[in-house]
Amino acid sequence: MPANRSKREPVSLFQPRSYFEVLPLNEIFPSPAQATEIEIGCGSGSFLVDYAEQNPDTNFLGIERLLGRIRKLDRKIQRRALCNVRVLRVEAGYAVQYLLPPKSIHAYHIYFPDPWPKKKHWKNRLVAPGLIPILMASLKPKGMVYLRTDNQGYFEQMLETFESAKQFRPINAPDSLTTIETDFEKTFHEQGIPTLRAQYQLSSS
Ligand SMILES: C[S@@+](CC[C@H](N)C(=O)[O-])C[C@H]1O[C@@H](n2cnc3c(N)ncnc32)[C@H](O)[C@@H]1O
Repeated sequence: MPANRSKREPVSLFQPRSYFEVLPLNEIFPSPAQATEIEIGCGSGSFLVDYAEQNPDTNFLGIERLLGRIRKLDRKIQRRALCNVRVLRVEAGYAVQYLLPPKSIHAYHIYFPDPWPKKKHWKNRLVAPGLIPILMASLKPKGMVYLRTDNQGYFEQMLETFESAKQFRPINAPDSLTTIETDFEKTFHEQGIPTLRAQYQLSSS
């Protein structure tokens, strides 16, 4: 290992032994928890650290591809001495489909995923019918999916995606969750841009 490696690598970054095997969730976090939740595309992670601080009995894994944002999140985690937040630097679609153990995740937070506003790019959107079976494979029965976006068209696509999946039903988010804004959400609200939210629960079987 290079001598200055520890300075360059975020402490909270989890580096899997293999990217071709299911992640050992029990090795990612120092302590087992009552629940494991994921934020897909967590960015610099203000939501994740605020929510994790309020929920010390839950482990949170952020999935993010940009190292600069992971570094910012890592500084927040270190400042608050949070033991229940780790980050995985990998393409989120791949991670959810191939790296998460079956029926292991209590909730997914998908906040302000890239909206790909041009129609010819809509095929790149994360929240689309093809995501449903992928989420279902790793969600526990009664697991939750929380969604936020500023893009009206993408919001409609999110609603159509989940409303047409019989296994999910719309629910209200708990107050403890609704009061916490993400980094992008704060910026949108400061600029007077409204944002939209929806949340769904997987059926029990
Ligand atoms: C618009 S930002 C939102 C960040 C954060 N959720 C928030 O609300 O402040 C989207 C984030 O998702 C990350 N992202 C986009 N596509 C990704 C992918 N396929 N895999 C991992 N991260 C991704 C981006 O790097 C970016 O940090």
